[in-house]
Amino acid sequence: MRVRFEGEEIEVEAGQTVAGVLLSKGIRSWRTTRGADRPRGLFCGIGVCFDCLVRVNGVPDVRACQRVVADGDDIRTQTGVELPS
Ligand code: FES
Repeated sequence: MRVRFEGEEIEVEAGQTVAGVLLSKGIRSWRTTRGADRPRGLFCGIGVCFDCLVRVNGVPDVRACQRVVADGDDIRTQTGVELPS
């Protein structure tokens, strides 16, 4: 299977999470905080902290540690949290 991260094609294994894919390619941050523009990526790894938010197929605020990749996914970085809380 293949996905794209910021337009770059990446080969992935079925069952990998978005975070697992990105970490396996040496990518440690894929979001920046709203106020201070600080880098964020995987923190808790279990879906609790929401630090790993990423945009997948145009949908913001997807938890990268919980989302299993699908063939053709378009994964993009994001700034802060986009959806209203
Ligand atoms: S790393 Fe904490 S919710 Fe994903």
